[in-house]
Amino acid sequence: KVIVLDFGGQYNQLITRRIRDLGVFSELHSHKITAEEIREMNPTGIIFSGGPNSAYEEGSPGCDEKIFELGIPILGICYGMQLMTHHFQGSVEAANHREYGKATINVEAENALYKELPKEQTVWMSHGDLVVEPPKGFTVDVTSDSCPVAAMSDVDRGFYGVQFHPEVRHSEYGDDLLRNFVYEVCQCEGNWTMENFIDMEVSKIRDVVGDSQVLCALSGGVDSSVVAALVHKAIGDQLTCMFIDHGLLRKGEADSVMDTFSEGFDMNVVKIDAKDRFLGKLEGVSDPEEKRKIIGNEFIYVFEEQASSLKDMDYLAQGTLYTDIIESGTDTAQTIKSHHNVGGLPEDMKFDLIEPLNTLFKDEVRKVGTELGLPDDIVWRQPFPGPGLGIRVLGEITEDKLEIVRESDAILRDEIKKAGLDREIWQYFTALPDMRSVGVMGDARTYDYTVGVRAVTSVDGMTSDWARIPYDVLEKISTRIVNEVAHVNRVVYDITSKPPSTIEWE
Ligand code: XMP
Repeated sequence: KVIVLDFGGQYNQLITRRIRDLGVFSELHSHKITAEEIREMNPTGIIFSGGPNSAYEEGSPGCDEKIFELGIPILGICYGMQLMTHHFQGSVEAANHREYGKATINVEAENALYKELPKEQTVWMSHGDLVVEPPKGFTVDVTSDSCPVAAMSDVDRGFYGVQFHPEVRHSEYGDDLLRNFVYEVCQCEGNWTMENFIDMEVSKIRDVVGDSQVLCALSGGVDSSVVAALVHKAIGDQLTCMFIDHGLLRKGEADSVMDTFSEGFDMNVVKIDAKDRFLGKLEGVSDPEEKRKIIGNEFIYVFEEQASSLKDMDYLAQGTLYTDIIESGTDTAQTIKSHHNVGGLPEDMKFDLIEPLNTLFKDEVRKVGTELGLPDDIVWRQPFPGPGLGIRVLGEITEDKLEIVRESDAILRDEIKKAGLDREIWQYFTALPDMRSVGVMGDARTYDYTVGVRAVTSVDGMTSDWARIPYDVLEKISTRIVNEVAHVNRVVYDITSKPPSTIEWE
């Protein structure tokens, strides 16, 4: 495997991503990791990431100097190269102009990193400092108009540095350069496939769990579904899944979860029908945050009650992903959001956790799901909030209003799928504002509900844009909703991006 030391750059996750796509396992570590810890991990290569600091400044992030003595090849990217230069007493200075964007480089070296790559390439640059003079023992491999040392190496010791960012797609031959680093320089084997991952995890889970019992809170979402399928493959009937139906799920969802897992996979699934309990607690409540709190707390009460009635559960399996861990922050990366998983299950739970997906990115989780035989509608399921339709019925929740959202949402999903847009649009749903308006249907005046259609494109839900659904598809959606869903006489399409809006309406 190849480890990436995190010096705070914005593309760090991408580096591990790219290396994995090349078939080699890679993970991000704090730059504070010691040489001894690295030796124990036994990586075949090390990458120093970029970062916002200046290598020559007091207090800028450094690394254990013994890392350079491990005999493991190192590739320094941007700040990583400057740090290497600084360490070996080359010269790093502030550039006259910050360089940000595409640049053309000239490759002058013949070494393994540039094997079979063209001499002239377009790359992505993003830096304020540059290497003016490489350290002793290093040669200049690449130059550009703005960088006298756009890349350098000490081939004998296995040290390479590049000023540009091969991990960014705008670097034309970036992937090829990284491939050369892992296969030509580090001589990695390239056995990171999802099939191997499953085999490895299955035997790990068996070792850890032994004869014990494992509980898994199944929501029907991608992550919890894949965890359930993976743990089930490892230990079969020692796994019990708990599926809480809070009555705020989409049309057909509860049945489809039960069909898939209980029938299809023959798993032990305990379905808890808690609909009345949730709706009872929500009666008369219209404040969005209060609704969220009630749903979250009730989920925990139900889970705790039910879990304690199940005998001898020692482990809880959770679908924590690698991104959840990275987003909670390494030493340099800013904390994007503090992460709490699975609807905030109680912290003082008496279970030990197993989190077999915590080295995976979302798309890898999807591949594992498919490999394990999960159907596409689960593997490719769009994000769905924990509080469910409870935050899509604006204001007070009633069974009648839930029915309108369920039915209109089902029509929307159907039409989006028919139009072949279901993988293109990141998330789409209907919401029911707490308002009515006047319409005319069959010569008679109506005074009925308005349904809001929301459809967004996004990468991670942090920001989003409204999806440009073709007018004729929108027309079908609108016509079907007013014709097929009782008490709806108007459909509106939400054309705001996030920010300033949010994706959900509450
Ligand atoms: P917003 O509305 O904040 O949503 O732009 C961003 C993404 O998060 C989902 N979301 C939630 N997920 N519990 C969840 O598990 C919540 O309370 C919640 N609120 C929003 C939302 O569906 C979107 O994908």
